[in-house]
Amino acid sequence: MCGIIGYIGKQKAVPILIEGLKRLEYRGYDSAGISVISPPRVDEQSSLRVEAGNQQPAISKNGKIDIITVKATGKVSVLEEKINGKDIAGTIGIAHTRWATHGKPCDKNSHPHCDCQKNIFLAHNGIVENYQELKDDLIKKGHKFSSETDTEVIAHLIEEFNKKFDFKNSVLAALKLLRGTYGLAIINKKEPDKIIVARLGSPLAIGIGNGEYIIASDFSAIIRHTDQVIFMEDGEVAILTKENCEIVNMKNKSIAKEATKVEWSVEKAEKQGFDHFMLKEIFEQPDSILDAVRGRIIEKEGMVKLGGLRDVKEKLADIEKIVIVSCGTSYNAGLVGKYMLEEYAGITVEVEYASEFRYRKPLLNKNTAVIAISQSGETADTLAAIREAENKGALTLGIVNTVGSTIANETMAGVYNHAGPEIGVASTKAFTSQLSILALLTIFLGRQRGMSFVTGKRIATEMNKIPKLIANILKQAKDIKKIAKKYVQYQDFLYLGRKYNFPIALEGALKIKEISYVHAEGFASGEMKHGTIALIDKNFPTVFIAPRDSVYEKNISGMQEIKARSGKIIAIATVGDKEIKKIADDVIYIPKTLEMLTPLLSVIPLQFFAYYVGILKGLDVDKPRNLAKSVTVE
Ligand code: G6P
Repeated sequence: MCGIIGYIGKQKAVPILIEGLKRLEYRGYDSAGISVISPPRVDEQSSLRVEAGNQQPAISKNGKIDIITVKATGKVSVLEEKINGKDIAGTIGIAHTRWATHGKPCDKNSHPHCDCQKNIFLAHNGIVENYQELKDDLIKKGHKFSSETDTEVIAHLIEEFNKKFDFKNSVLAALKLLRGTYGLAIINKKEPDKIIVARLGSPLAIGIGNGEYIIASDFSAIIRHTDQVIFMEDGEVAILTKENCEIVNMKNKSIAKEATKVEWSVEKAEKQGFDHFMLKEIFEQPDSILDAVRGRIIEKEGMVKLGGLRDVKEKLADIEKIVIVSCGTSYNAGLVGKYMLEEYAGITVEVEYASEFRYRKPLLNKNTAVIAISQSGETADTLAAIREAENKGALTLGIVNTVGSTIANETMAGVYNHAGPEIGVASTKAFTSQLSILALLTIFLGRQRGMSFVTGKRIATEMNKIPKLIANILKQAKDIKKIAKKYVQYQDFLYLGRKYNFPIALEGALKIKEISYVHAEGFASGEMKHGTIALIDKNFPTVFIAPRDSVYEKNISGMQEIKARSGKIIAIATVGDKEIKKIADDVIYIPKTLEMLTPLLSVIPLQFFAYYVGILKGLDVDKPRNLAKSVTVE
């Protein structure tokens, strides 16, 4: 939630910051802003002349170092238009794209925020929980506030300390007073050769270039410049100049940190000719699933190899209960995991919304494994749940897509999805990669608990076939678009599924809500008759997920009940099922597979359906209103 980018080096900062903001826009896009340290005119102030070889047009009018700030309500493109034509020459700057928490989206509340003297400018991702008391205190000391945000207090606090301390020590002193979370990038006119960044609970990475540093909330904004990245950890503060990166803890003690080489390529993070990231990511699923299982399935042994669980393998053999904590789409993946693990690994699994788990008194012990599922690895609720689980002595594991993310770092062990960067706000390929990892985990834990070689091999063999089966479903994109056209005017949808496909009903409903702003309810099909059926009439169509599985007959009865009440049905069915055509108004076919793996196939038409309804309504499916890809606040 909220994206931060900063640049310090020899190049003009503005284009780099704008390009980075566009990559971070999935984190929030209600307003954006930029602050650049602008050098004095080279002809006016020879004493402050910029280094030879680094001369550029300067725009500071008065011959002094200045900080130029531009803000805009709306998407980054609006900010870009506002900046066009302005000659902002500086090579040091920070920028921010916002997802509002305190104060409505408007120019005044956009970051970067500054102090009274307009010396200190900062971009913040997170929440200052005690901002009101700090603000009251600062107002008493004479500070004047110009926004409604929690963030602005940080700038004024630093200003206060900067009266007696240098920039670094002022930042350290201010941070000690904050309660809440932050990823921060700060510049100061009085020490114009630096950016200071700090992290507590909100992600920040530092890309190391040649005589330059790029800091960002995630490395999709960095990879264009360098693959060498330092992932900051909570409680760390970095002081960056063009030549140096000093990292200290809150007590100002230096910390030695190694850079990590990041393998994601720039191409992977771009649209590659697709109209939207979401569509590209739907089409990537055969590859992203291959990447998730590559080198991990040992088919001939009916086994899997999960390197990230090596160190806890023995502990896992003693685990009596699993609790999966997650949010949104990742929660729906966890529900499918429950069905898989209970049926095949014979282990009790509970699935909980992380936001509930963190405030309950969950009964955990050392024989409980708590698994966080998270695409971003930064979701605040999921992170808090994992911390709570660790405090209670449980074994914590992560199924995470983003390498180096906080959840990946804080869990005791885990498995990366390797789905590559997911930019579309509505999760697609991350979801199917989560399901794939859960299938592998089922084999892993199942084989520890008496699953036969034959069963292990059957799941492994079928799992290996999934990418090809998905590739076949992708060929139906145009047909699904035609169906979407027929239904685009409806305002309500019911999504039904049973057993393994009940969570897919939830996921299908979530997808269409997220990107098409259509009311949709996901339900267990057997539960429909206990109330929800009252909603059914000719204006309330049902998407019924009914592959040929162990509950097929039950689903057919459910469909008859809907038809008897004049409800329209779009069915997701197994190839060759002619019966269903007689009942449903429209049918989308998926290939046959093992029952536990059907969710990997049945979700694909639902992703397409939501996507096409969204674009037929003319909506921005990659950046739906009110949402953010990664929710790093409570
Ligand atoms: C946000 C996104 C959802 C996502 C959820 C969990 O709400 O809009 O699409 O499923 O966070 O995110 P995570 O990164 O933890 O999987």
